Amino acid sequence: LKTEVKEKATPKIFSENLLPDKFLEEEGRNLVRQFYLTLKTAKLYDENNSNSIKQQQIFTESLERVSRKLGLIELKAKRGYLHLNEQRLKFDFEGYTSSKYLMEQFKKFNLEVIIWDENVEEKELKHLIYFLVNLDYDEEESFEKLAQSLEEKGCVHIHLKKGEPEPEDEQVRSENDKKKVAKKTFFKAISVVQEIFSSTAQNKSVNLAKVKRVVQCLVDQILEDENNLIELTAIKNFDNYTYVHSANVCVLALAFGLRLDFPKNKLTELGFSALFHDIGKVKLPQDLITKPSHFDEFDWKQMRKHPLLGAKTLLGKKELDQSSIRSMVVALEHHLNLDLSGYPALKEKREQNLFSRIVSICDAFDAMTSGRVYMREALSPDEALKRMLFQRGQVYDASLLKIFIQMMGAYPVGTVVLLDSNEIGIVVQPNPQDLSHPKIKVIADNNGKRIDLEIEDLTETDPKTGKFKKNVIKTIDPQKYSLDISTYLLR
Ligand SMILES: [Fe+2]
Ligand SMILES: [Fe+2]
Repeated sequence: LKTEVKEKATPKIFSENLLPDKFLEEEGRNLVRQFYLTLKTAKLYDENNSNSIKQQQIFTESLERVSRKLGLIELKAKRGYLHLNEQRLKFDFEGYTSSKYLMEQFKKFNLEVIIWDENVEEKELKHLIYFLVNLDYDEEESFEKLAQSLEEKGCVHIHLKKGEPEPEDEQVRSENDKKKVAKKTFFKAISVVQEIFSSTAQNKSVNLAKVKRVVQCLVDQILEDENNLIELTAIKNFDNYTYVHSANVCVLALAFGLRLDFPKNKLTELGFSALFHDIGKVKLPQDLITKPSHFDEFDWKQMRKHPLLGAKTLLGKKELDQSSIRSMVVALEHHLNLDLSGYPALKEKREQNLFSRIVSICDAFDAMTSGRVYMREALSPDEALKRMLFQRGQVYDASLLKIFIQMMGAYPVGTVVLLDSNEIGIVVQPNPQDLSHPKIKVIADNNGKRIDLEIEDLTETDPKTGKFKKNVIKTIDPQKYSLDISTYLLR
């Protein structure tokens, strides 16, 4: 029995018994990254190009480091994860692109495992790499072709194992599927808002159960994967501003509530009230809402009625449960300031509700960056945050605003930035640990040429100097360069 246990605990593939998991994890991530970079380089340059040779050397070194410790190197793709010698590799955002790319390659070649033994030679590696990048995407029997080609070229130190097609499983959803789900939930929310707003405008009853369901979907989605939803809120060029705005404010408020550790039911209530915060607008003349020119004093007078109209509308609903009451309060208070200035003027001064304070921050941010009602020209997301910071303590709750900025980053999603490498990027995710070094998609190289969308983490440092490899120099107005940021987000 003892022998059996021992054998199980120490896979034969390991040449040494005591292997720190950390080594496998770190080297595994590095190996995957180098494999990915080598394939990418091979796609651009032929095998005798100095870039290819250099990159392949780095990859070889990485393989050698692992094989010195482990002997055989086994890279396996199974159930949506990469494994190095049975150790599942976890990837952060930075390593995500490379692991995703490799997973796709494994899938394309119907590969489950690649094994390199310690005697693998340079020319064998080169052959593997160039075969992988040169085979046409849709070719049939790609695994057989690859195996045969390796055999013909005498690559005896590389072994392959064919995989079984994996069933699509909920947990194994690829990032693309995640995006699809996020989009579907988000667009569903917009259409439900549209529905409630138009039935409210016609004094018809509203299907509250439907609204709750959609909010619950958003809550589930935000708990599982908030980045895709937040990215969607950065796309502003939709036609139906009020509906999209309501959905945006709802998503931002939910992400906010998550940072305040709200339990699920409280999140749902917050989402519900955020979705309804502007419902009073349906009681205003439609041409006022869509007025393209600046508001005059009369327009503003009308517009300032929407919080009270919203609260009244919600009061008129049949079911007055906890969430309807909360949304009434939020509708009433979302244009009140922290110091109780703002509108409507309250006869009885009392502290602004926490939900209202949250929604007022999300609302202001979305409105300022959308460039509609309150701001004819859209502000860049970082500019909007700066303005809001300027008003902390009077308009916005200072500690809540701090949390919001922590959530959005100094350069929120959708900000177009110029880097000191002269590249141009779009922010796709903030780094909570370092707000001024977000994750970006590089969209133009240093010659201004549009390039493939690579995600880069600006917190990456140069190991030699310890300094950041790239920094944001300034933000760029996308309109000036006729950039439609929506085409770069969620791709
Ligand atoms: Fe409003
Ligand atoms: Fe609003």
